[in-house]
Amino acid sequence: MVSMVVAYERSRGIGKGAELLWGPYEMAHDMARFRELSRAAGTIIAGRKALLNDQVDLTKRPFPKIDQVIVLTRGPKESIAIPDVDVANSIEEALAMARHDPLVIGGGEVYRSALPYVDIIYATEVDADLPHDEHTRFPELSETEWEKTENMFVPVGKENDIPSSRKHNTYPSYQVTYIRKKSRA
Ligand SMILES: NC(=O)c1ccc[n+]([C@@H]2O[C@H](COP(=O)([O-])OP(=O)(O)OC[C@H]3O[C@@H](n4cnc5c(N)ncnc54)[C@H](OP(=O)(O)O)[C@@H]3O)[C@@H](O)[C@H]2O)c1
Repeated sequence: MVSMVVAYERSRGIGKGAELLWGPYEMAHDMARFRELSRAAGTIIAGRKALLNDQVDLTKRPFPKIDQVIVLTRGPKESIAIPDVDVANSIEEALAMARHDPLVIGGGEVYRSALPYVDIIYATEVDADLPHDEHTRFPELSETEWEKTENMFVPVGKENDIPSSRKHNTYPSYQVTYIRKKSRA
């Protein structure tokens, strides 16, 4: 079973430059879900650009329970000199290397190449129009292929009851799960 986790705004934008569209404390609920899914999966697959994003450095804590990080590049494998990170030259190679059911974590190019192999998508649909790069939109999901099985509204506000906490949900969002309807050919 191959899973994918993604957050996109109203027109399906996912990033701008190397960055996400929100700061590290602005989408606290989404970040908590992302950590939970990553730890549960054990293996994550990321594009070179997403992995080297400073905002979420999966090679550092607080991601100690991820057993295997696989990064995708078309370049020489030796060019990714990060300890304990496996390197693959294609999505097919990454899937073959995975020690656990993998979770694909982006970015845009990797979402597009991995989508045909994915069985379940954990999406945070941010209910806001945020400026984003045109080339890193998350693809539209066809209703004939994907079934929406969960849809939970997360309102704006503090993520927990700790008054000093910086964790906040700056934008309203929906946490949605899509399951592939048909088996792939
Ligand atoms: N909102 C979200 O949920 C979310 C999640 C993750 C990332 N992001 C955002 O996404 C943006 C980055 O996305 P991106 O599309 O620019 O980059 P990306 O998908 O993270 O990485 C692209 C790089 O990965 C390698 N790659 C991609 N597909 C490959 C394949 N099929 N086979 C082999 N290598 C492959 C290539 O590396 P080489 O160039 O080394 O060949 C390519 O240049 C950032 O803005 C980031 O913040 C958003």
